Amino acid sequence: MRAPTLGARATGVLLANWRGQSTVPAADLYPHQWSWDSAFVALGLRHVSARRAQRELESLFGAQWTDGRVPHIVFDPASSPRAYFPGPDFWRSADVTGRHRPATSGLVQPPVHALAAWETFRADPATARRRGFLPRLYPRLRAWHRYLTERRDLGGTGLVGIVHPWESGMDNSPAWDGPLSRVPPVPAREFRRRDLDHASATERPTDLDYGRYVRLAADYRDSGYSDRPERHSFAVEDPLTTALLAAAEDAMAAIATEIGADPGPHRREVDRLRAALVDELFDPATGTFPARDVHTGAALGYGSVAGIVPLVVPGLPVADALLATATGPRFRLAELGLPASFDLTDERFDTSRYWRGPAWFNIGWLLCRGLREHGAIGLAGTVRGALLRAAERAGFREYVDPLSGQGHGAKDFSWTAAVILDLLHPT
Ligand code: SER
Repeated sequence: MRAPTLGARATGVLLANWRGQSTVPAADLYPHQWSWDSAFVALGLRHVSARRAQRELESLFGAQWTDGRVPHIVFDPASSPRAYFPGPDFWRSADVTGRHRPATSGLVQPPVHALAAWETFRADPATARRRGFLPRLYPRLRAWHRYLTERRDLGGTGLVGIVHPWESGMDNSPAWDGPLSRVPPVPAREFRRRDLDHASATERPTDLDYGRYVRLAADYRDSGYSDRPERHSFAVEDPLTTALLAAAEDAMAAIATEIGADPGPHRREVDRLRAALVDELFDPATGTFPARDVHTGAALGYGSVAGIVPLVVPGLPVADALLATATGPRFRLAELGLPASFDLTDERFDTSRYWRGPAWFNIGWLLCRGLREHGAIGLAGTVRGALLRAAERAGFREYVDPLSGQGHGAKDFSWTAAVILDLLHPT
């Protein structure tokens, strides 16, 4: 008997991690629904079951708050409250939303959802139209984007701000070390991490990082999830979040056209966000988009891969500079194919610790898309090939060493399987 193909194995992971209405990122480590994970999951799931991919996004948006925010975790009541920390008792979302089911966190994650919704529609327009998928989701996506542009313009510059490293999606990136160092950590004895029950401590954030994450999340909760910048000790204008919102608004223009709404406002949003990114954050000297600390004005993390993901923004005028950075000594993308999450030449680069160096498949997928968007077809092919080879060799791991391809973090990780499945489909 022949071994199952990579595509069949990826499908197997998505089927195993499906929980009836949505997909867990990984059965042990992340036993609930996560926001940007679900968007990437939908991109792969659409090739298995378009209906299921639609459900994935619908269930996430079913947990949307009335202020428009889409919480970064939607807790599965069937999962033990002790399976993940911080769990529902920590976030106390019902105090603000008035709803006990579903319980959610109060943070957000990068807005890839409109892009995922549009791609999900495209996989099976007939089913989507019959179910009213886009007409139902569109107002929710608009409210989500409005939350980000109105409530999260923390610096008043038109960029989108984040109030916690978890919101960046790149939790322990060295880019956050500076602003995080000002946050008094909750002592490790006062909480019990659950992630270390399932993953090696050498591959996860440190206890000191965790103590600071817990402090920031508790302060946000205790403020009633207020978005006034002065309430936040961590407030950062983020290039990844802003760039993904621009790409999402581009998808919103397509969605609006499909459902007979006006695409004009969305096209103007793409223009506005692109201009804000380039005017406010682009650094020509390093050829990248560093994040910016709202309190000090300091540029953060010239080395984060987040600074080259703005390639996903259509019509980006500085794409050539980003390509030079991607292929230069700091990322060596043409040679490695796998995108390091942090500058390979920086002393803080770490081959195996979460977002301090390892290559992540969703970032690889975004870069493939951005490279194609800007005509770098050959390099996009190199990245695609490297991601497929890494999954072939290491399995659907959460992240891999960008130098050796060795797998780290969770096994059978949903978005890895999903983006691999999508990369196997002809574009
Ligand atoms: N990514 C974070 C974790 O590791 C929080 O969402 O749990």
